[in-house]
Amino acid sequence: MKTVLITGATSGFGLSLVEELLQKDYEVVATGRSICSRSKIFASISEDLRARLQLIDLDVNEPSQIAQVKEFFEHKTLDCLVNNAGLGHFGPLEEVTDEAMERLINTNLVGLMKLTRELLPALRTSKGKIVNVSSAFGFMGFPLTSVYCASKFAVEGFTQSLALELKPHGVDVFSVRPGGYRTNFLENAIFEEGLKEDVYLQQVRGLKQFQKKLSSRPNPPDKMEVVHKIVQLIEGNRRKSVTVGKDARLGWFLKRFLPEAVYDSLMQKTASNMMSAVEGSSV
Ligand SMILES: NC(=O)c1ccc[n+]([C@@H]2O[C@H](COP(=O)([O-])OP(=O)(O)OC[C@H]3O[C@@H](n4cnc5c(N)ncnc54)[C@H](OP(=O)(O)O)[C@@H]3O)[C@@H](O)[C@H]2O)c1
Repeated sequence: MKTVLITGATSGFGLSLVEELLQKDYEVVATGRSICSRSKIFASISEDLRARLQLIDLDVNEPSQIAQVKEFFEHKTLDCLVNNAGLGHFGPLEEVTDEAMERLINTNLVGLMKLTRELLPALRTSKGKIVNVSSAFGFMGFPLTSVYCASKFAVEGFTQSLALELKPHGVDVFSVRPGGYRTNFLENAIFEEGLKEDVYLQQVRGLKQFQKKLSSRPNPPDKMEVVHKIVQLIEGNRRKSVTVGKDARLGWFLKRFLPEAVYDSLMQKTASNMMSAVEGSSV
């Protein structure tokens, strides 16, 4: 029976992945912030499936908790690490405090790299896999998203480099790049409020309205699309990183195949349409 460790397993893609892998007979080590005291989250999972579920507290920004996870896998096989924990951040760079910037980069990137590093001995032994949940914002820039994009672009670079480094050791490293899906992501994201009214307020309103429109779509894409792609990578049915969702795949296609100047001008138009849509609105 294979064992998969998932970070950020308390909601969204992470929680759904726990449920999916238990259904598929995996042993799942679900980690998250204070997850042991939040075990009610898993109450709807039947008792026989829960027998294969282990909960471990892991805030990816807590070195002592990373050390405990490492120690756990000194006595147990680890077949796959899914680095899913992450946080959104939206707003003008001028308004981002050091604290918010560090929190975001530490959670989305530094914690992911530190945990991966500590679990590499276990993954080399099992010739296992690493799946990093990145984003469409790991290959496309977007206004008011610079710090989040920086974190996810870096996850992409980390993934590509590590894949080459670990190939000779039998460890596969992939990324999954979702577009927009309805999880707790937007509720949990840090929003800068456009306090420099004369400068950024219109853009902040535009982004909020754009996100509101996306969140209220009558038929939003199903987050299981992302979960199923992660499962394909874990099971070896897919052998390369994947971009998931119509919006993300369109972006991926445009970025890859349009000349850079054409792509840049298209993105500028998209950004400016997003802002002009709120002219005169009170959002
Ligand atoms: N939803 C989307 O549209 C979308 C698109 C592209 C990429 N993504 C990426 O997908 C991943 C999962 O996000 P989601 O959409 O499922 O959002 P979500 O429902 O908000 O889930 C995020 C998970 O990360 C956890 N987390 C946050 N900070 C953490 C920390 N310091 N240590 C450990 N866990 C932490 C959260 O735990 P708590 O319960 O403790 O907050 C939660 O379990 C993220 O990496 C996100 O960037 C999402």
